[in-house]
Order: sequence, then C-alpha cells, then structure tokens
Amino acid sequence: MEMDQLVALCKRRGFLFQSSEIYGGLQGFWDYGPMGVELKRNVREAWWRDMVTGHNELLVSPGAPSVHEMVGLDCAIIMHPQVWKVSGHYDLFHDFMVDCRESKHRYRHDQVQGRWVEYRGKRIFVASEASGSEGEEERRQKALKFFDLRSKNADELQWQGEPVSLATLKDTSAVLGPDAKTLGTLTEPREFNLMFKTIVGALGGEEDAVFLRPETAQGIFVNFKNVMDSTRVGIPFGVAQIGKSFRNEITPRNFTFRSREFEQMEIEFFCHPSQSRAWYQYWRDRRYKWYLDLGLAGDRLRLRDHAVDELSHYSVGTADIEYAFPFLAPGEFGELEGVAHRGDFDLRSHMEGKLVRRGSELVVEKDAEGKPRHRGSGKDMNYFDDQTKERFIPHVIEPSAGADRATLAFLCQAYTEDEVPDESGKAAKRVSLKLHPRLAPIKAAVFPLVKKDGMPEVAKEIYSTLKPFMNVFYDEKGAVGRRYRRQDEIGTPFCITVDGDTLKDGTVTIRDRDSLKQWRTTKEDLVAELRQRLQ
Ligand code: GAP
Repeated sequence: MEMDQLVALCKRRGFLFQSSEIYGGLQGFWDYGPMGVELKRNVREAWWRDMVTGHNELLVSPGAPSVHEMVGLDCAIIMHPQVWKVSGHYDLFHDFMVDCRESKHRYRHDQVQGRWVEYRGKRIFVASEASGSEGEEERRQKALKFFDLRSKNADELQWQGEPVSLATLKDTSAVLGPDAKTLGTLTEPREFNLMFKTIVGALGGEEDAVFLRPETAQGIFVNFKNVMDSTRVGIPFGVAQIGKSFRNEITPRNFTFRSREFEQMEIEFFCHPSQSRAWYQYWRDRRYKWYLDLGLAGDRLRLRDHAVDELSHYSVGTADIEYAFPFLAPGEFGELEGVAHRGDFDLRSHMEGKLVRRGSELVVEKDAEGKPRHRGSGKDMNYFDDQTKERFIPHVIEPSAGADRATLAFLCQAYTEDEVPDESGKAAKRVSLKLHPRLAPIKAAVFPLVKKDGMPEVAKEIYSTLKPFMNVFYDEKGAVGRRYRRQDEIGTPFCITVDGDTLKDGTVTIRDRDSLKQWRTTKEDLVAELRQRLQ
C-alpha cells in the first residue's frame, strides 16, 4: 500500500483532515473527521476497557506476578512549571536542529544522513532526510544534478564509505543540504526545547511562563499521594491516563506519526523494587499482545529492547513496540509505544529535586553553591506496607502509547485492495478497511434493497432497534452494491439488507465485509447476533 492512497482515503471518507486546511493548513496539526473521531474513540475506549475498567483485580491476570489494581486519572494540561524542571524536561527535552539558508527548510540534525562522493577531484557530502534505498536514490539524483551529469554517466561518481549522520561531521562547508543546490548552506546545529511555552494571567511576564505538557506521565507522578490517600489501592497498582500532549517537533511528518499536538495513553505502574523486573516483563508482553489482538500483523509488529546508550535519562530498561509503517523504507520500523522501567526516578525527583546519574547512582543535581539545581516538592513519596512494615519508594513501569500512532497503524494495517464481483458478476477493484470490529467507526449499516414496497419502513425500524447498542448507519440511496462499497471503504464490518423475504418471513441478510459471506437471521435475533460478532 502506498501511503498516498491511505491519506487520500482518510480525506475522502472523513477520517483525517489537515488542521485549518482552508488557510493552507498548519504543519504538525490534524483534525479527525466524522469517521476518524469514532475510530480514535474506539482505540482509546478499547485501551481503557482492556487496561482499566475491564481489569479484574481479584484475579491474577495471565502472566502477571500477582493480583494488581488499576485506576484512572485526568490531569490538567498545564501544570506548575517546577514539574518540568524536576522531571528533566526543562533541561533535557530538546533536539538539535539545523536550518538551510538557501531553502529555508529546517531539519533535525540527527535525522539528516549523507554520503561522500567525488567527481573529478571535487568531494562533496550529499545529504538527505530519506533513509534506505530511497535515500540512496535521492542522493544519486542530487549528485548527478550538482555535477551536471546525465544518468548514463552515473558510474563516474565515486561514492565513498557508507551513509553517515550529518551529526558526525565537524565542518559542513562541503555539505549539499537535502533541499539545497549549493554547498555549505546548513547552519550550525542549535538546541531547541520541544515544550510549548505560554503565559498564565493577563499581566504575566517571563516569571509566569508555563508549558503545555509534553507527556501525560508527570500528572500521574505528582498525584501519586492523592491517589493513595483517596482510594484504597495498595502496591502493586497502576494509574492510567489518556490525554493530549504537545511537542514543538522540528520536523513533524509522516501524516499523524509525528505531530505537534497528539494524544497519549499512559500507565504508571507502581510496584515493589524487588518485583519490578517481573512487572516490566509482564507489561512489555501484555502491551505487545494488545496490538496483535486488535489486528496488527505479527510480521509488521516487533518488540525491540533498547541498547544501553539509547535509554532515556530516567530509564533503567526500555522496550519499544514498533510497527512497519508503509512510509518507512523496507525493513524499518517506527515506534508505537515505549515500555520503560523507570525505577524510582520520578517519585524521588518530585520528593528531592532533579536527579542526575553519577555512575550507577542517582543523585540530586547541585548548582555551583551546592544547592539543588531544581528543588523537589519535599513531600514524602514513600509507601508504607502495613503487612511487612516496610517503607520504600515504589519502582515504576511505564507503558506509554500514542493514540494517534496506534490509530494510524490500525488504518495502515486495515487498508486493503482486492477484487470482488460487482452487480453484474464481473470482478471489480474494491478498497476496504479491514478494521477489527471493536475499532470500526460504524458497526453495521442497514439498507432497504429498494426504496419501495414498505422496505424502507422495516429497515428504519431495525436501525432504531440497533441504535441503542451500537453505532449504526442507514442508507437507502443508490444501487445496493455501491452502498456495500461505501461501507467497505470506511470499515463497517456488517451490512444488513431488508428485501422481499423480510416482508414475508421477518428475516434479513447479514453481509460480512471481509469474507463477503451472506446469511439470513431473524429481526429478533439481530441485536444478539451482531453484539456477539462484534466482540
Ligand atoms: N512518558 C514517556 C513518553 O512520553 P515517548 O516515547 O516520548 O515517552 C510515548 O512518547 C508515545 O507517545 C510514543 O511511543 C508515541 O506513540 C507517542 N508520541 C510521542 N511523540 C509523538 C508525536 N510527536 N506525535 C505523535 N505521537 C507521539
């Protein structure tokens, strides 16, 4: 599947629109249309149901070290600025960027790759943002153009070494930027904090600056005591939150994959330090299985453990759940979710102040006068175990997923082109979204075969009977084959048709989107049958 086909379908059928499109759009921001909003809600609801409300805390879940509890939270997007100073986001949450003086484009320093090439004694570094074979081809074309050569003379270019990151170069005077025609147009890399800043209050100055949260996680940490004190949860337990996060990404791209406003679905799971490895393993495997159960194919989904030098400043172990998105080069995967073992980093930071790693130790970072660089709240974040009489700071396992990335992966996986017989029996191309029934925006569509003989009245009655139980759609316009195609394209798993037999014996036809099988059932059994099939 080409990404362009999915993007076109998303616009045509109301899944996703560019934000503020009538004004030319705003890069990195997206609007979900009538179908997209249902799909994303279903992704969020499946997550909340499977992780929180559907969780049975009286039983040991398969693979879990013990029984555990799950509760939810919904925190403010804007929090006290000290939260981000202590968490490390204020000092550490930044990317390096380079600007191109010629094209005026901006790139993430670590995402520009290039390769040295020589022609008649002149050596240049040809840079590109694309990777893999796409990047190779782009660099080949750029080099040919730069040296004013034709494709048939491509052999005269002497490529040297493998592609390397721009970040490995000290001198960029021989660099041909990704969108430049001349050499040396890229600026020195500059640091760029990814948090969006705003001001609280009408008269606010710099001291009233606050940030839009770049992750939902911190809201959970700062409420750790509130949750403990207001409920009867005891270690081990998890707190879940779904909400918007904001990052001023330098290069938002690949549809919704890297946006500036997006939604996260995060769990902070608090456990005893001695059990943390086992819980890390549990959540890593459980979250991977969640995507498989909802339809992502095993050969396009992988669990990848981070190498030590890849770990975030807080993490003592992280695994990414990754999907082979179609906009990536063959063999490449993009992150869907990170499952991190964060140790006691976050709770300790909010208690003592911003921590830094010194060897294997986490210590409070000090300024030149020996005072904490960013002071913590001073609130005690210890947990007291009534039974063992032990006092300790819980360790945290964090499965952190993106609702938009998950939605995009489900869309990519679902997009299918096949050939099915049309009304005349001839094979015709069909585009369908083979979404898991739990995720499908509309669960069933109800059609009268023809717009006469009392069929619309019966179909409308069926529509009204189904409506309280699921999102259904009524359509009586056009040929029934075309109505089926329209539903296939938005992923509706079942179409129900009222025909002449319905009027005689009270049965209707159910058509399955994927197998195209059709069978009859009575009007009375319809709700129960569809509900069972939708699970
Ligand atoms: N609390 C940890 C945390 O925020 P992260 O890996 O930075 O970790 C977690 O983000 C998830 O949030 C990612 O796996 C991804 O699904 C989603 N995400 C992060 N940045 C995103 C962006 N710019 N656009 C869309 N989704 C994003």
